[in-house]
Amino acid sequence: MEVKSILFVCLGNICRSPIAQGVAQNYIKEKKLDLHIDSAGTGSWHVGEAPCENSIKVALLNGVDISRQKARQVKKEDFKKFDLIVGLDNSNVQNLKNLGCKNPLKLGDFGFDGKCVPDPYFFEGFEGFDKVYEMIDICVRNLIDEHLK
Ligand code: 4NP
Repeated sequence: MEVKSILFVCLGNICRSPIAQGVAQNYIKEKKLDLHIDSAGTGSWHVGEAPCENSIKVALLNGVDISRQKARQVKKEDFKKFDLIVGLDNSNVQNLKNLGCKNPLKLGDFGFDGKCVPDPYFFEGFEGFDKVYEMIDICVRNLIDEHLK
């Protein structure tokens, strides 16, 4: 299957999946690939909001501007529209399955031994966001490389 679109999904769509979206968009630009990239949350609490301050900050420190993203909730049409749907942790993958997504992937399977990207929403301050960024950065690049060989 030719991959033309990827959707990254976390819980709130304000901390982790916006970083994944930003990293992927920068990477495909760098590689001159034609792919549609988006992100969403399984929850609706933060719909319409910009990413959390620390995600914007860690991304910017790595040359990725995610400040103009707006959170949205995943919807059933996404499962038809996107070629790959990628959860950031086990509960995201389970939530996607419960919503009817047939074959969600897990980001940590692409370079971090299947580990979950920890939810930084309840982290204290900025500490920990570097690690979250590193995991996402490595896995997103590997995911894209692997599907566009
Ligand atoms: P995210 O983090 O899933 O990485 O965007 C969260 C953001 C908000 C909430 C949970 C996780 N929340 O419960 O509001």
